[in-house]
Amino acid sequence: MSDSFQASVARSAALEKRLADEPASLRMLTGDRPTGALHIGHYFGSIRNRVRLQQAGAEIWQLIADYQVITDRESVGAIRDNVRNLVLDNVAAGLDPERVTMFTHSAVPALNQLMLPFLSLVSVAELQRNPTVKDEAKAAGITSISGLLLTYPVHQAADILFCKANVVPVGRDQLPHLEQTRVIARRFNERYGATFPEPDALLSDAPLILGTDGTKMSKSRGNVIELRMTADETAKKIKGAKTDSDRVITYDPEGRPEVANLLTLIALCEGVAPEVVAEEIGDGGGGALKRRLTEAINDELAPLRARRAELAEDPSYVVGILERGNARANEVADDTLDEVRTRMDMVYS
Ligand code: TRP
Repeated sequence: MSDSFQASVARSAALEKRLADEPASLRMLTGDRPTGALHIGHYFGSIRNRVRLQQAGAEIWQLIADYQVITDRESVGAIRDNVRNLVLDNVAAGLDPERVTMFTHSAVPALNQLMLPFLSLVSVAELQRNPTVKDEAKAAGITSISGLLLTYPVHQAADILFCKANVVPVGRDQLPHLEQTRVIARRFNERYGATFPEPDALLSDAPLILGTDGTKMSKSRGNVIELRMTADETAKKIKGAKTDSDRVITYDPEGRPEVANLLTLIALCEGVAPEVVAEEIGDGGGGALKRRLTEAINDELAPLRARRAELAEDPSYVVGILERGNARANEVADDTLDEVRTRMDMVYS
């Protein structure tokens, strides 16, 4: 893993250079699971990166991975609301629906069909080794792994390869899936002839953001600051954040992880170093730290929230974005599937 991690880091750095030199050669695809609203962890970890790539001139494909919702849970939940909220969050954050193709798995049959030949290229043992799948099963308390949970990394390869994306901005947890995608592309090309590019991960350099209680940010723990919250809701969430009893604020991620996390968030919003923020707050204690964070986040998100509220007023707006995106995704998926059938000698007309 560590060798391949090093290789991923090196390829990610090479991509940054390509983004600066020849952005039009990059086709980026990312995906979100519609299981809930986007929060500031997503915002600093990936959404700002998406907007940066868009602004640099890369082509952007944004998948709302609805079939991935049922990998680790039995019910689709409030899926219609969640899909709608994902579109609103991404657009309000700066993704331009005129330039970005936003689409859902379930509306693109040819994408899903690619899963069949791809499944023939991987072994069960290989799938069972995927560390991210194992972690997800464990986190969800799943003891009997479904066929979809085991094989969704292959489906994710179809997400990426159907449109021949060459850049996938991800966090470290997604690297096993990206490696699986590269392997599938390589094996398909070897067996049937050159068809798919091997995509590279673009690793985010944003630091890991914890929830307001200092543990992993997750909706079920109630420690999340959602993008769509009001300024008051945000203030309340931050007021309840965990700190410690030392009045002098210092940036010490090892010794004081909760305080360091709040400092990191201020630093990301204000574009300064967390150590500098700590020094400025000095002996102001947890109260001053939280006041500053509340202001920083509310300032950072105010334009996004205003825009989001405006867009949400027209229910047909999101519908239109998805209709256009799904139509475009279907065109490209149909072309790729035709190419795959031709390569596999499965054209009978
Ligand atoms: N697995 C990703 C997640 O849980 C979501 C996803 C689905 C994705 N398809 C993708 C990410 C394709 C990148 C590329 O966050």
